[in-house]
Amino acid sequence: MYIGPYQLSNNLIVAPMAGVTDRPFRTLCKYFGAGHAVSEMMTSDKTLRMSKKSLYRANFDGELAPISAQIAGSDPHDLAEAARYQVANGAQIVDINMGCPAKKVCNKLAGSALLKNEDLVARILDAVVAAVDVPVTLKTRLGYLNGHENILRVAKRAEDAGIAALALHGRTREDMYLNTARYSLIKEVKEMLNIPVIANGDIDSPEKAKYVLDYTGADAIMIGRAAQGRPWIFREIAHYLETGEHLAAPSIAEVKDVLLGHLSELYEFYGEYSGCRISRKHIAWYTKGLRSSNEFRQNMYQVENTADQYKVVENYFNGLLEHGHIMSDVQVDQVNLLETK
Ligand SMILES: Cc1cc2nc3c(=O)[nH]c(=O)nc-3n(C[C@H](O)[C@H](O)[C@H](O)COP(=O)(O)O)c2cc1C
Repeated sequence: MYIGPYQLSNNLIVAPMAGVTDRPFRTLCKYFGAGHAVSEMMTSDKTLRMSKKSLYRANFDGELAPISAQIAGSDPHDLAEAARYQVANGAQIVDINMGCPAKKVCNKLAGSALLKNEDLVARILDAVVAAVDVPVTLKTRLGYLNGHENILRVAKRAEDAGIAALALHGRTREDMYLNTARYSLIKEVKEMLNIPVIANGDIDSPEKAKYVLDYTGADAIMIGRAAQGRPWIFREIAHYLETGEHLAAPSIAEVKDVLLGHLSELYEFYGEYSGCRISRKHIAWYTKGLRSSNEFRQNMYQVENTADQYKVVENYFNGLLEHGHIMSDVQVDQVNLLETK
């Protein structure tokens, strides 16, 4: 699949997730076979550009091309300016966020709140596409309210504006993350447009990936939450799509190596204080469902520095390895059951 001139290595894309898909995580997902990744959203508010958070989010150093920077805001002029800034900063693709349901974002009429105002959507699309020479993509939802899904009009307008690809989460803003993603409108959008369409929402297994690709006819799929603590999901899905067979789940030894490598990258990227704190949620995701992991996590959350955190994680996995704990989906399910009893 192509986004503008960029041919992706496959049609599996890491969904942008603020607080998760920083450069270390995107790099790891690409290593495990994701064909593309989009940055965390970055506000178009110029006054926040030099904040610590924005600087981390705009760090693409050494990242595998094509680099896609996501911008969020509500003012066409500010968004156009933000797009130019990101291109000067190294972005090869600019992605516009019209899907975020968070109150903080929607109260400023940004993210999915934009879907309430199609005229403003059109002005934003035109302004951003005109502002930069690189492909501009759009990520959005089915609409703002259930029963008032306006994605067919928005998608057509996006194509007419020159948007290079459309990523569509099969929920409305009203759905937030409730209910299940609806793929029927994604299929209709795909049938209507000539630009690539990327299906998103609730894809969490190789079978689901194949189902969504087949059912919607989408050119690619985008995976968010299912990649948290499981960056190898891209390898698993790619293998299944190619062969129809399942790859074995990673061994505990491999999970240990991947997690420790990920931690080292996070420590280097964020430094001592933030590195330790940001790593906690990743450690929690990687260890979910493993033996005695609830107890492990409670202890791990108390650790306040990166050296001790790394050691605590290493020791926990060494303990699992000593007991010959080989992780398989079945075992993980069993442990999950035991832990929730
Ligand atoms: C923690 C978190 C942060 C997110 N941040 C963003 C974001 O910055 N930009 C965006 O367009 N979508 C964001 N999303 C939405 C995801 O990109 C994706 O559309 C959504 O999670 C549905 O896909 P999934 O079911 O595969 O997770 C976020 C989702 C989560 C869970």
